[in-house]
Amino acid sequence: MRNHLLLFILWIAFDVHAQVRTGPVLGPVEFRTASVWYALEGDDLWELECWPEASPEALRRFPAEESRRFEFRMAKFYLTGLAEGTTYHYRIVCRNTTLPPGERASFRTPVLWQYRQPAPDFSFLAGSCAYFNEAQFDRPGRPYGGDSTIFETMSKEPAAFMLWLGDNWYYRESDYNSNWGLWYRAYRDRSLPCLGKFWKAMGHYAIWDDHDYGPNNEGAAFVFKEEATRVFNAFWNNPSAGSREGGIYTRFSYSDVDFFLLDSRSFRDSDELPDSVGGVPNPDKRMLGKEQLQWLKNQLANSKASFKIIANGSNFLNRFNRYDCLVHYPVEYNELLHFIEDERIDGVVMMSGDRHHSDVICNNLRDGYLLCDITNSALTSGVHRTSDYERSNPDLIASMLIEQNNYTRASVRGASGERVLKIEFVGTAGQALSSMEFLQKDLRFLKN
Ligand SMILES: [Fe+2]
Repeated sequence: MRNHLLLFILWIAFDVHAQVRTGPVLGPVEFRTASVWYALEGDDLWELECWPEASPEALRRFPAEESRRFEFRMAKFYLTGLAEGTTYHYRIVCRNTTLPPGERASFRTPVLWQYRQPAPDFSFLAGSCAYFNEAQFDRPGRPYGGDSTIFETMSKEPAAFMLWLGDNWYYRESDYNSNWGLWYRAYRDRSLPCLGKFWKAMGHYAIWDDHDYGPNNEGAAFVFKEEATRVFNAFWNNPSAGSREGGIYTRFSYSDVDFFLLDSRSFRDSDELPDSVGGVPNPDKRMLGKEQLQWLKNQLANSKASFKIIANGSNFLNRFNRYDCLVHYPVEYNELLHFIEDERIDGVVMMSGDRHHSDVICNNLRDGYLLCDITNSALTSGVHRTSDYERSNPDLIASMLIEQNNYTRASVRGASGERVLKIEFVGTAGQALSSMEFLQKDLRFLKN
């Protein structure tokens, strides 16, 4: 009898781990709000306890916003009425049973600095192409997914947040031919233990590219795109997602930097269409779509940020990328670059993923303004050896070409008007591989 009691207590003690399949996964942490999600199993009722580190007696409980699709159960918690510049602890607790609470995690809200003090220095991480092997559904032969300890390394970074630049998981043939398959892949890959520490170490923002949207190179024609959007929004907590037309584009700010997160898939015409017809750019070949590009232009025009970071799954500026780049959508490429010049949009820096190597490509705009596209790839997927043709690109910053698994560590520092954005590509074990600095004062057009 005593043994049965012991077994029962052990079952209770360990079962919480079976109930919480994934999480906590921290979303954006704002001045007065934060969000966190879990993937849950079973039917128990859960809520989130949250309290300031300095005053545990101020503990509050928040209800779950639950969603279910097929057998997949997600719970999102929106923590509201927080204080700025404050450290909070939180944990998930079961309401209807004596299951023990989930593990405790922490976050710190940013300091409300506007009109009060200089913009705070900060750092963030970025990366793309995270492939996780599942042999029975993968191509036979050498596994495509590599060393997942990169996420352990990243979880130790004192960064404010992670920006996922697309191909954040890889739908296989067995996934993207059904709605269920899309949920299966995201649910399975997000629950892998190698990601556990990273999920709670910092907030997460994301855009997608083809492989976490649908089949390779897929665009507006994808027959499951509404479901893919639902999956994306279930597994990320971006501030908003697209417009009534659909899509997942959005923006956020951190300190004095604005981030414009683009959707390179939902509105995309096929890469196979000709770039130009009859000697002029093909008006029927768009990557972002009219509405999203107009949105971006309005956002850029309104932004007062020191750096305006535009993030896209596909490359922006690489003329020597034969396949998958805004260059091959010349109507939109010309429209965006002319807009930046004509409206004198200061401080623009582009970030992209997808390529299975990292590099920086720069274009000279008017007045010596150097517009650069920082491509970061791959977190864990196979690495691409760049061709001699690509290496001969005069726009390539040769010292920034990295052909091994890596992530971006970006830091913003300096006095007002003289801010510096430092980009480092960092290897799996945390070793700095290359770095480059962007000076706010160099990313300026002359005024009339
Ligand atoms: Fe891609």
